[in-house]
Amino acid sequence: MSSLVNKQILVGITGGIAAYKTIELIRLLSKAGADVQVVLTDGAKAFVTEMTLQAVSGHPVRSSLLDPAAELGMGHIELAKWADLIVIAPASADFMARYAQGMANDLLTTLCLATDAPVALAPAMNQAMWQHPATQANLTTLISRGVHMIGPAAGAQACGDVGPGRMEEPQDIYAAIDTLLSPVAQDLAGQHWVITAGPTMEAIDPVRYISNHSSGKMGYALAAAAQARGARVTLISGPTQLAAPQGVQRVDIKSAEDMLSACRTAMLEQADVFIGAAAVADFRMKDVASQKMKKSGDSNEMQLTLVKNPDVIATLSQEQAAKCMVGFAAETQDVIAYAQSKLERKGLDLIIANDVSRTDIGFNNDENQVTVLSKDQQWTPPKESKAALAVELVGLITQYQTQPS
Ligand code: CTP
Repeated sequence: MSSLVNKQILVGITGGIAAYKTIELIRLLSKAGADVQVVLTDGAKAFVTEMTLQAVSGHPVRSSLLDPAAELGMGHIELAKWADLIVIAPASADFMARYAQGMANDLLTTLCLATDAPVALAPAMNQAMWQHPATQANLTTLISRGVHMIGPAAGAQACGDVGPGRMEEPQDIYAAIDTLLSPVAQDLAGQHWVITAGPTMEAIDPVRYISNHSSGKMGYALAAAAQARGARVTLISGPTQLAAPQGVQRVDIKSAEDMLSACRTAMLEQADVFIGAAAVADFRMKDVASQKMKKSGDSNEMQLTLVKNPDVIATLSQEQAAKCMVGFAAETQDVIAYAQSKLERKGLDLIIANDVSRTDIGFNNDENQVTVLSKDQQWTPPKESKAALAVELVGLITQYQTQPS
């Protein structure tokens, strides 16, 4: 049975083009058995109508703080107490700013201040607005107060820009809400998991670098899933656009060498599980230029001398292995055979094989499909969102750890 049956969910909608997608979210929540009430800000009314939202939620829609008729029915404090969860989708930059400041100048911010229920935000805004230091500071404040963040995703935006700030798809917001409201057994309490994520960035000169398209989503989702089951998680992350999952200790690094040294430090305290989800650059500059490199002469060619980076996971396997070492194998052909040889070569217990030639999964995508291999076993979970897959993978790794050897 879904964790949403009979749950009372207050959906807040703020002004943004993504508001039309929230209609589908409300439909999914209602279909799963949740009782949904909707609150609109004034800005949201420019994008969705009260009539539509009333029809999909089956309740009158609220928007005014000082509405005598509505207050006669369920007062705003009662509404704040009624909710098992408040989810704001889309959450605009303006809403995040007002909520982070503790303002109560409309019905939605007032409810967020007055509620004891968990609050989740699915932000949506232009990429520059999302990346603005003011918005990022508000994000940090809200996360530190226990507000849950769902997204945002990165990609093409309604305004034509490309970057982070797109609202997650209704199906993914729905899955995140389902997870939030599911009681999770704390069976990993006492365990320490060290997880690497994202790309590494190898300097060429003071202004250029070598990197790759890894978004970090898979590693971050694994960190969130292990933390939700009670593990203490150290997430060693290359540069990404993602906020650290709540309760996870993130260590920011740039290069492969930094990543290795941060892992060594994290693993001074014995790790139960190490997962190498990072896309580590295989090579770095032999000598990083101390000044910006110049085009020299008329030559159309340029040669850079690269040297091999340390293999982070293979080094750790030899020097200070966690009880269970898990790697990823990003492959474009002969996926299983290459993954199996990496498992052996790098001294791993498990390897998660990923076909990165497919454009519908893997790198920079929201969905993923993998095959998990041990020396003598193989599992293939269905293609699903990275968040759902992460929950499944943490389950598989945990099961593998407890298998009699
Ligand atoms: N890895 C690592 N350090 C590196 C390279 C890779 O720790 N310098 C880890 C990755 O985090 C992943 C696993 O090794 O868990 C496999 O990474 P992948 O890029 O698939 O393999 P490579 O070892 O780079 O091999 P190749 O590029 O030849 O496929």
